[in-house]
Amino acid sequence: MGGIRIRRYDHLRDQRKFAALNFATFRDSIPQDEFVDEAEFKQHHAWLLRHFAPHDPRKNTVFVAEFDEKYAGHCWLGQQTDFFTRRVDPWIFDLSVYPEFRGRGVAKALHATAVQFLQDAGFKRLGLQVMAHNADAAGLYDKLGYEPRSVSLKKLL
Ligand SMILES: CC(C)(COP(=O)(O)OP(=O)(O)OC[C@H]1O[C@@H](n2cnc3c(N)ncnc32)[C@H](O)[C@@H]1OP(=O)(O)O)[C@@H](O)C(=O)NCCC(=O)NCCS
Repeated sequence: MGGIRIRRYDHLRDQRKFAALNFATFRDSIPQDEFVDEAEFKQHHAWLLRHFAPHDPRKNTVFVAEFDEKYAGHCWLGQQTDFFTRRVDPWIFDLSVYPEFRGRGVAKALHATAVQFLQDAGFKRLGLQVMAHNADAAGLYDKLGYEPRSVSLKKLL
């Protein structure tokens, strides 16, 4: 059967596709004027995956989208402690779709599954961070009903 299918992440089967797409999204999140060396970032990314452990169901839940039975994208849900309230809210660490599968509703389907999962578990809020230069993501998150809560600023010295 074709079309979009959402399932839970299976580490043995999905780790390479997950890591490659997550790497690209995280690397592209870095503003161009804050360039980091690709090899250095690879090492850092390997550390991020070990430290934040998307494969560890005690800390994270990852949904995978298949399109026509191919790995098309994923939604990595974790938790973030709020700096001010100390409340721990569910957090989207990565919602990404491989370029060849974009524009077909894959991100929307992943997000709908994640929201249902969290609502069923009784959560009332869901947060994420998006980089200011990421117009695709801004369009998506606006459509999905997110509102800015804080703005982080930087200036060149
Ligand atoms: C952002 C991203 C996840 C969207 O995935 P997608 O599967 O193409 O998105 P969908 O097809 O489900 O689109 C959902 C909605 O998002 C919006 N959207 C998606 N891509 C957009 C774009 N390039 N520009 C503006 N709005 C966009 C649209 O409003 C769309 O709704 P519509 O089709 O009803 O108009 C994808 O472009 C991506 O993986 N980008 C790189 C990774 C990334 O930046 N992730 C977010 C940060 S964690």
